[in-house]
Amino acid sequence: MSQKFRALLDLCKRRGFLYQSAEIYGGLRGAYDYGPLGVELKKNIQLSWWRQHVYFRDDVVGLDTSIITPHPVLKASGHVDEFSDLLVDCMLTRERFRPDKAPALDFNRASSDCGSGGKVPMLAPDKDTAELWQKHITEQLAPGIKTSLEGKKIWLHVDSFTPSSKTLSGSIVFSMVDKNLDSVTIPYHGYVSPDSQSPFLTPSRPFNLMFKTFLDPIDPVERIIHTTQQHDPSQQQRTVREEVDDILRPSTVYLRPETAQGVFINFEQVTRTMKMKVPFGIAQVGKSFRNEIRLEHGIFRTPEFEQMELEYFVSPWTSGYWYNYWRKLRYNWWLTHACHPEDFRQRDHESDEMAHYAVGCTDVEFKYPWGWGEVEGVAHRGNYDLTQHMKTTGAKFEVIENDQVSQDDATVDMALAPKNTPAKYVPHVIESSCGLNRAMLAFLCDSFHQIPADGNNQPPRNILKLHPQLAPIKCAVMPLTGKPEFLPLAQKIAQSIRKHGLYTVIETQKLKIGKRYYRHDEIGTPWCVTVDYQSLEDESVTIRERDTGEQHRIHWKEVQMYISDKLLE
Ligand code: GAP
Repeated sequence: MSQKFRALLDLCKRRGFLYQSAEIYGGLRGAYDYGPLGVELKKNIQLSWWRQHVYFRDDVVGLDTSIITPHPVLKASGHVDEFSDLLVDCMLTRERFRPDKAPALDFNRASSDCGSGGKVPMLAPDKDTAELWQKHITEQLAPGIKTSLEGKKIWLHVDSFTPSSKTLSGSIVFSMVDKNLDSVTIPYHGYVSPDSQSPFLTPSRPFNLMFKTFLDPIDPVERIIHTTQQHDPSQQQRTVREEVDDILRPSTVYLRPETAQGVFINFEQVTRTMKMKVPFGIAQVGKSFRNEIRLEHGIFRTPEFEQMELEYFVSPWTSGYWYNYWRKLRYNWWLTHACHPEDFRQRDHESDEMAHYAVGCTDVEFKYPWGWGEVEGVAHRGNYDLTQHMKTTGAKFEVIENDQVSQDDATVDMALAPKNTPAKYVPHVIESSCGLNRAMLAFLCDSFHQIPADGNNQPPRNILKLHPQLAPIKCAVMPLTGKPEFLPLAQKIAQSIRKHGLYTVIETQKLKIGKRYYRHDEIGTPWCVTVDYQSLEDESVTIRERDTGEQHRIHWKEVQMYISDKLLE
């Protein structure tokens, strides 16, 4: 992890953006709680998205559908059968890994780690696992070998060792020769590909990513026991798995893996109640859940996350136009909020990496400290989803085009246009699907600046140069000192800004004013307003810009307008 990213994570924890979930109980892996500033940043990202896609347009409406989704919906959408990853299980730790993501080891580093002292280090993910592995090695794999433990490192005491070639996964296997042994092969890093026939990992198998649960007042185990007791075993010709699936299916529900399906199954309701006509969109922001095998980089990939999704319904003959339209519009949204636009890029999917429903997909990627990572996908879903739900339920999702399609219409692909009208068709969908938590992490990384110490006794410090619309706190009003005479005006100013729905704080800490400015730079507050001695005479105050440190003096009554105008820029 880079020093800069570590410093950013430290800031997030120290200043109330992100906490580890259930921290006082030792934490839950992959789960995060958003602190007072984190919740504001997340809300502001969402608001900017919602404003641009719903409030600023006539053709998009919002929706908020249930997270708990019945089995038939996700069976029809293909998620029950298709939404899976390959995984391997570590038999010792019970951890799951994607086979292609088994951590590879740098061969040169491994060699130098071994040194000449006859000890080979083996790194386990944690202390408990190290103990398990040590037991497994000394009792089964290489009885008699001398080992020692150092935290999560196991030292294998050997006379010599020979690093062998890389396995298919890229991990390294050491062949070791010990006084007591002829030869033994031990996977250096513990995680190896199943192809290397490691003693630790099972062959790969598909694993559905959805969280399954049961909407049933009776415990599923009780229900299985009760139902199977009434069965005549001689009549049972099916597998236990089939029996159990049948018993549980009526109550099976999933936590949705994407918000989109809730939109598709409400297509008819929205068109009817809101009188929407193609082309039009439905926007939804909400939680989605995936039992991710690989959790990584803080909030980048977590089992519980939020999505901002827009499903835009179009005719087949304008779908190409709208796909390009949304790709451009969505990319520009990222650039508008970025400090470093060059760190955002678009990447078209190869045909073999597309989701089961997609005809085309372009990702927006951000250059995170560990490399380029997806923040959003803009996909052409064809009419796959609506058709699937129609087939399963008999719902009528077709729309009718009455007007003859014009040759001069630049949005039309004439090759796909109907020859005669009226024409009936199932709308195609262009989807923009953006991870809110990933967006937050991207904007934090993008805006995080470290200012080194200078020769004038200025300590090193951080500035979050967040776009003002995204900044958690818009304005900090500061009495110059702790003297009570500054407070009434500070309160009046804060009140005038708060009335306009902008998060404003009064900063009465007994720190010097410069320190208070720096504390607000670090959390991204774009404006600090100071009430000083001159304010008591002429009601003027200073307003300070976060990114330049420049200050202007204006009448206190102008402060709210100044900030509101700047927020529109
Ligand atoms: N409805 C389409 C869909 O869900 P996706 O590419 O699987 O497409 C869309 O997900 C976005 O959701 C991703 O670009 C990413 O930003 C976010 N996302 C997906 N899985 C995530 C996870 N486990 N943790 C955080 N964000 C995730």
